[in-house]
Amino acid sequence: MKHNFFNRLIVIVILLGVLPLFLSQMESKQPEMVRFKTPKRPTGQENVLQLQCDPIPTVRVAFIGLGMRGYQAVRRFIFLEGVEVVALCDVNKNAIEKTQQLLAKSGKKSALEFSGEQDWKKVCELNNVDLIYNCTHWDLHTPIALYAMEQGKHVAVEVPAALTIKDCWKLVDTAERTRRHCMMLENCCYDFFEMATLNMAQQGLLGEIVHVEGAYIHDLRALNFRAPESGGYYDMWRLKHNEKYQANLYPTHGLGPVCQALNIHRGDKMNYLVSMSSDQFGMTEYAKKTFGEESEYAKRKYQKGDINTTIIKTEKGKTILIQHDVTSPRPYNRIHMLSGTNGFVQKYPVKGIALEPNAHAFLPEDKMQQLLKEYEHPIVKEVGEQAQKVGGHGGMDFIMDFRLIYCLQKGLPLDQDVYDAAEWSCLVDLTEISVKNGSVPVQVPDFTRGDWNKLKGLKFAK
Ligand SMILES: NC(=O)c1ccc[n+]([C@@H]2O[C@H](COP(=O)([O-])OP(=O)(O)OC[C@H]3O[C@@H](n4cnc5c(N)ncnc54)[C@H](O)[C@@H]3O)[C@@H](O)[C@H]2O)c1
Repeated sequence: MKHNFFNRLIVIVILLGVLPLFLSQMESKQPEMVRFKTPKRPTGQENVLQLQCDPIPTVRVAFIGLGMRGYQAVRRFIFLEGVEVVALCDVNKNAIEKTQQLLAKSGKKSALEFSGEQDWKKVCELNNVDLIYNCTHWDLHTPIALYAMEQGKHVAVEVPAALTIKDCWKLVDTAERTRRHCMMLENCCYDFFEMATLNMAQQGLLGEIVHVEGAYIHDLRALNFRAPESGGYYDMWRLKHNEKYQANLYPTHGLGPVCQALNIHRGDKMNYLVSMSSDQFGMTEYAKKTFGEESEYAKRKYQKGDINTTIIKTEKGKTILIQHDVTSPRPYNRIHMLSGTNGFVQKYPVKGIALEPNAHAFLPEDKMQQLLKEYEHPIVKEVGEQAQKVGGHGGMDFIMDFRLIYCLQKGLPLDQDVYDAAEWSCLVDLTEISVKNGSVPVQVPDFTRGDWNKLKGLKFAK
């Protein structure tokens, strides 16, 4: 009896000793959120929300970077009234010559030419320029934008405007200090379906928008591996970025239109994200197949996971899903999905609209077309037909240029401000931090420094 009692006592003592140890092993530590310090806004500096500058009746433009994108931008500008192309800058003299020929063929004056590696500085310093239109590769986006604003110029910069949080802050601070416009050229915000569905969201057709999705899914393997002399990117810059980064290198096409639907920094703000990348398979397999197992390209180390998925939570409790994939053999896709309490719209892989009380299925094609017509955005009504004729991703690029020039001519706030540029671009850095740290939550900086709730919704100035 006594023996039994002692045996039990020993078991209890052992359990009491081991249990806390066992529990402490089980207990998973809450992942810490990666947070950033918000740099203090210097005294006297104010936000540039709804920034209005002096009207510029004839906008004098200098183009820097005349590759695939820059050349097309100049071509579109030929169709705009009240603009003058005054300078062309590219390290590739052939690109300048080709663009001069385009101007000449269209009966336009020839532009000043700049071809030195650092000549973009001279272009920004020109007295007869109002707007710098920057279509260079990613590493030059921020330096040129900053220098342009310092020289008193407005700047339009290709996507993404910056690659690091630090550079996003530099853009914001420089725009606020110099009171110059810094607009990122996020053309996907101006596509026809995106604008109509934004209009639906703004007019309440979809109810409260709760969840949105966007993406950049575009098989770029052939272009990324193409040598510049065969029509590839300058110095194969894009391939090099695929070697350096693991996460979402190109977030803005998917993010821009859905952030507009959620009124980001116009009543809501992105708070934090988590991001996960698959491993890298596609680049190496493509390189082996195309250039051989022993080729230099097959042996290179590509950091970028094939598919990156990021989820963002907003202050008002909404969620955003963003994907990036440029290496899988699959159809082009930006998703563009808005899901609300009264309805649902989606652009890719198939266009569809579903509304209460029968939202279990998409509306028939004719009903969807009817709705798209009814909710056609006023800007598309104004310029959509001409945009389709001029082209540029089906017309959206022209609508973007048209709006940029229209607002500068009239001295109106631009549709996209420097905070949009910073918020949409900062995902490059934030997703990288999350992916490299086991998909840890990462705070999204508030680039408005507390002013995100001052504007009530996105408006297109008229
Ligand atoms: N918004 C869109 O739909 C869209 C589409 C394509 C490309 N882009 C963006 O446009 C930018 C350019 O892309 P691209 O396809 O034209 O690439 P690209 O390589 O064809 O063009 C880059 C150009 O920059 C020039 N350049 C390089 N260094 C220079 C310097 N120091 N000074 C002046 N010029 C210099 C190159 O010679 C080249 O002509 C990228 O940021 C890309 O992400 C956007």
